Amino acid sequence: MSTNDKTSEPGEPSGLRSRAWFDNPSNPDMTALYLERYLNFGLSRDELQSARPIIGIAQTGSDLSPCNRHHLVLAERIREGIREAGGIAIEFPVHPIQETGKRPTAGLDRNLAYLGLVELLYGYPLDGVVLTIGCDKTTPALLMAAATVDIPAIALSVGPMLNGRQGNRRVGSGTIVWEARQKLAAGEIDYEGFVDMVAASAPSTGYCNTMGTATTMNSLCEVLGMQLPGSAAIPAPYRQRQEMAYRTGKRIVDMVREDLRPSAILTRDAFLNAIVVNSAIGGSTNAPIHLAAIARHAGVELDLDDWQRVGHDVPLLVNLQPAGEYLGEDYYHAGGVPAVVGQLIDAGMIREDALTVTGRSIGANCRGASTALPEVIRPLSEPLREQAGFIVLGGNFFSSAIMKTSVISDEFRLRYLSDPEDPDAFEGRAIVFDGSEDYHRRIDNPALAIEPSDILVIRGCGPVGFPGAAEVVNMRPPDYLIRAGVMQMACLGDGRQSGTSASPSILHVSPEAASGGDIALIETYDRLRVDLRKRRIDALVGEAELDRRRDELTERGGYRYPASQTPWQELQRQQVGSLATGAVLEGADRYQRIDKAFGIPRDSH
Ligand code: FES
Ligand code: MG
Repeated sequence: MSTNDKTSEPGEPSGLRSRAWFDNPSNPDMTALYLERYLNFGLSRDELQSARPIIGIAQTGSDLSPCNRHHLVLAERIREGIREAGGIAIEFPVHPIQETGKRPTAGLDRNLAYLGLVELLYGYPLDGVVLTIGCDKTTPALLMAAATVDIPAIALSVGPMLNGRQGNRRVGSGTIVWEARQKLAAGEIDYEGFVDMVAASAPSTGYCNTMGTATTMNSLCEVLGMQLPGSAAIPAPYRQRQEMAYRTGKRIVDMVREDLRPSAILTRDAFLNAIVVNSAIGGSTNAPIHLAAIARHAGVELDLDDWQRVGHDVPLLVNLQPAGEYLGEDYYHAGGVPAVVGQLIDAGMIREDALTVTGRSIGANCRGASTALPEVIRPLSEPLREQAGFIVLGGNFFSSAIMKTSVISDEFRLRYLSDPEDPDAFEGRAIVFDGSEDYHRRIDNPALAIEPSDILVIRGCGPVGFPGAAEVVNMRPPDYLIRAGVMQMACLGDGRQSGTSASPSILHVSPEAASGGDIALIETYDRLRVDLRKRRIDALVGEAELDRRRDELTERGGYRYPASQTPWQELQRQQVGSLATGAVLEGADRYQRIDKAFGIPRDSH
């Protein structure tokens, strides 16, 4: 039955790793011990000893994680697919991650869920796994773990919510919050109106219906080859989502029989395809962090230069908020990921040979797919923007940062980039905040005398400083400037911003202040020069003055940030790397493809 090439493991002849638990004649007492407890809820010995693949369903849905909650329903159809194909389903919980609900930030939990899932996939009798992905960090966490353990794995998106509506217009998750905040600050709506406006964006089960981090990462997971074609964009409540759950369950059983593992799918070509598609969909600024993390655990070289080199010149095709106007249902009806990839193939931008969970290449899956709604997924001949990728920047007070240029608004361009002599550069005074509490406390204080051409700077917000790297860099202008019609200012910081934000902020400044980065030396009213063509941001502060400030900071004991409040905060702070390299737990990436590298774990008793 199996093409699995293992020949010496316990549990022959199937080669299934679950046989080492459930049917190992050379070790009958341990086999009995492993078996008996899995019989106690009604599975039979016949089933468990039938040499059928045991398929885990890594369940991320729960009441705590509403974006992924619909997976509790979809799991029934996954099970039916698994059963239909001759497998046995074992569903188990994954540490929940709710992007908006988790304090101080869900950014803390990605690596925690990753660690937990590695232990589950490796330490239990699982031959393959369905990864139930959705809300922002759930997708990278599960892919990171699947890459590390490297047993056959397939992902299933929970799908976006239906389109939000208010009156006659589309109201998109997250994106509406930034608009509502401006209206509240300007006194146009009150607290009630604010809540109503934001809640209108969430009409059903599913994840954010904008091109935020969730739609981005679910789309990129499909591009990476880890989901069935067309899976990412189907809205959560649609019947097609249920059908896709069934097909996904069926497919993983065959993947186990074919021994098709993540290591065959998550190749450098697959990651480069994901970078290209991220530009074409107007994807989230969190994508570089998460792709870097998945790549590191998969043992694939990928760095920020790849984003500049492969991603920058790709046009924006997908007209979804925040870069455009439409939402998730429209994306699905327009053709979803295959329609985007199909057009990029025509342009020669996709590495077509990259293998996918279907056992076929992405080229075979998507070649010829075109858009059904050209206003939502634009044809290549009429992109929303040329060169829609991120710019990777360097400067005299940091090594790397990124900026999403596809969301630069006319207002931003007029205020900061209107010098005909120098259309790609601007200078402004830094207004510096240490952490988000400091920003909220002081932003509206007239004593700061913020001017529309200033640059808002926030630090202490990276993986160590916050901890977990908070989505706080996109800051609104002070209320007195909003009332004067200034809706957006340039922002810079060592943290992240929400994928649903339309701000062209300069993000992920690395190294962060809390790890000794020189962003800690910037003072309010220092002048900063941003040059997008040269891809540089420099503080116009003399070298000697920066040295003096550095010495002074060292004397004060270094950059101060809030103490850890939980054991995990402390442990993660000790281990975590920078946003530029994926914010992974340093050292964890030494453990790769561990199922093949280490074989079956030792017996438990
Ligand atoms: Fe969960 Fe956006 S908050 S997907
Ligand atoms: Mg977020």
